[in-house]
Amino acid sequence: MTDRITQDLTAARAALAPLAIEATGLVKSFGATRAVDGVDLAVPAGSVYGVLGPNGAGKTTTIRMLATLLRPDAGSARILGHDVVREADRVRGLISLTGQLASVDEDLTGRENLVMIARLLGHPWRAARARADALLEAFGLTEAAGRLTKAYSGGMRRRLDIAASLVVTPPLMFLDEPTTGLDPRSRSQVWDIVRALAAEGTTILLCTQYLEEADQLAEGIAVIDHGRVIAEGTPAQLKASVGSSTLHVRLLDPARRGDAERILGGRLAEVRPGADPAALSATCPDGDRAALAVAELAGAGIGVGEFSLGQPSLDEVFLALTGHVAEPEEDEAALSGGGRA
Ligand SMILES: Nc1ncnc2c1ncn2[C@@H]1O[C@H](COP(=O)(O)OP(=O)(O)OP(=O)(O)O)[C@@H](O)[C@H]1O
Ligand SMILES: [Mg+2]
Repeated sequence: MTDRITQDLTAARAALAPLAIEATGLVKSFGATRAVDGVDLAVPAGSVYGVLGPNGAGKTTTIRMLATLLRPDAGSARILGHDVVREADRVRGLISLTGQLASVDEDLTGRENLVMIARLLGHPWRAARARADALLEAFGLTEAAGRLTKAYSGGMRRRLDIAASLVVTPPLMFLDEPTTGLDPRSRSQVWDIVRALAAEGTTILLCTQYLEEADQLAEGIAVIDHGRVIAEGTPAQLKASVGSSTLHVRLLDPARRGDAERILGGRLAEVRPGADPAALSATCPDGDRAALAVAELAGAGIGVGEFSLGQPSLDEVFLALTGHVAEPEEDEAALSGGGRA
């Protein structure tokens, strides 16, 4: 009884301040490997939230615990107010999981796959076919609908995977590296799909190794490394936390680059020549100092064609936070991905 009241109170609290995911101190070990080492997450409902981290950081393991596929060794998590261990069935009804875990049958056509899943989920035949056709259309797969899935390209396959998880639109969706290995065009198609889902109110937890992907899609980001959250915030906050920004300058006359380098070096740190013979960049602590440095170039008669002051990229942020670059290592990814094709 008390348990029941506690559960109701928890659900009521979640409804007041809706968090789609609330995880506290999640831990999971595999033998001697502590894959997840005390992860806290608070993901507001209705947002795209990015979990960013290199190979083996513990992203998939975290997702699998949140999706009730793995039991945490310690800590707890609630999905839309429901505990992932005590109310696992309830949670399963609220989520869908796509990505590193393949869900479609290779020996069926795209359309057969979607119809079959809709049937399994209880749609009558007519409704199942209608839902399949609507999804095929939405994901640009109408033409390929009659072909066997094993003949699909990587991008088509990924879109079918996501479509398959949307036969019933879930309130919360886990996307585990949805664009790993895709070409730029397919990647941007998947991004459009993610944006469209978010616009319809689905909360999305997006695991990725690609900083640009998180930057493009996520409102909030948790950076994980070695099973721990090492930084959290909006992309802009994470970039600002690294502090300095970068001044980019392009000279009218490349022959003056040596002079310009000396002048900028007097005011700014780490002046670097760019690949373009007329370009230079420098790290600078604030905009005022950058403006003064550019004015000094003009004062010395060095023509400036363009200049801009930008935030550091998320790549630079990642390097500053973890001490290593976030470069996906495809071979390792295939081994530790837990079933990625
Ligand atoms: N079933 C398992 N058995 C043993 N070790 C595992 C298992 N699953 C994951 N691990 C280990 O736990 C660590 C975290 O793995 P996880 O798959 O969660 O990382 P990830 O961040 O998803 O990495 P990737 O970007 O490569 O998918 C790794 O060291 C991995 O080798
Ligand atoms: Mg993974």
